[in-house]
Amino acid sequence: MIPWYKSSFGHEYLKLYAHRDENEAQADIEAIIELIAPPRDKPLLDLGCGAGRHLTALYRLGFRSLTGLDLSEELLQVAQERLTAAGAKNVKLLCCDMRFLPYKEHFASVLSLFTSFGYFARDAENAAVLHAVYRALQLRGKFLIDYINREYLLANLVQEEEKILAGEQVKIARQLTADHRRIEKTMFITTAAGIEKKFHESVRLYTPAEIEAMLKSAGFTSVCRYGSLRGERFTSQSARLIVVAETCPRPGPGKGK
Ligand SMILES: C[S@@+](CC[C@H](N)C(=O)[O-])C[C@H]1O[C@@H](n2cnc3c(N)ncnc32)[C@H](O)[C@@H]1O
Repeated sequence: MIPWYKSSFGHEYLKLYAHRDENEAQADIEAIIELIAPPRDKPLLDLGCGAGRHLTALYRLGFRSLTGLDLSEELLQVAQERLTAAGAKNVKLLCCDMRFLPYKEHFASVLSLFTSFGYFARDAENAAVLHAVYRALQLRGKFLIDYINREYLLANLVQEEEKILAGEQVKIARQLTADHRRIEKTMFITTAAGIEKKFHESVRLYTPAEIEAMLKSAGFTSVCRYGSLRGERFTSQSARLIVVAETCPRPGPGKGK
């Protein structure tokens, strides 16, 4: 069976999440610049870049060594069109599974935005993403994850919802797994022609402490949490969990005795 994360991110995804647009991305990137000061002249990776809205904002804000990685060829094609329209040159787009990030000590900054983490069924696979990012980062590189706050989601879960999105009727069903370790979201769309389509998402709900422990076991030393990209204090009521992890100096040969 094709895993959900391979079949759910195409043109239909862009319609369903049309409100997640370039304006929002621009505000996100401005906040990230304040929060972690990613260097504009050093390599930056948008991991799970989708249709390139954050890459476009980064380019507009002066970043000149950009890479986007995503598994969806369809979304990467939209990203390329969007970047070309913005006059962004030399942005590398890579179609690849995030677990197999093919870089070593290359990026100064890696961003994982709008819940692009926790998709895999097994914890070891999600941990493999963190190991791959650690390997891909330079010394004192920073990794920012914009993720769900599990406690907030448990307290505010809307199980059923109906909306008109992009002119189509959409029913949304959200359910926790019995062990409360994943959130399962299914969207049923009825097109104007009366055709029914179904999209699924399934995200592992790590607690802040669990993510921090996973980052540390991947090699990160300094790990901080925030309640928003604007650097607000994290509490159980924060809608988001933002984690910033940094790589420490790696011990050289002959050192550490
Ligand atoms: C929720 S979307 C967020 C996209 C983008 N960060 C944004 O804010 O618009 C998650 C993205 O992760 C990508 N993705 C899913 N599984 C992936 C994998 N195994 N490796 C790389 N990218 C993946 C999807 O194709 C999708 O573009």
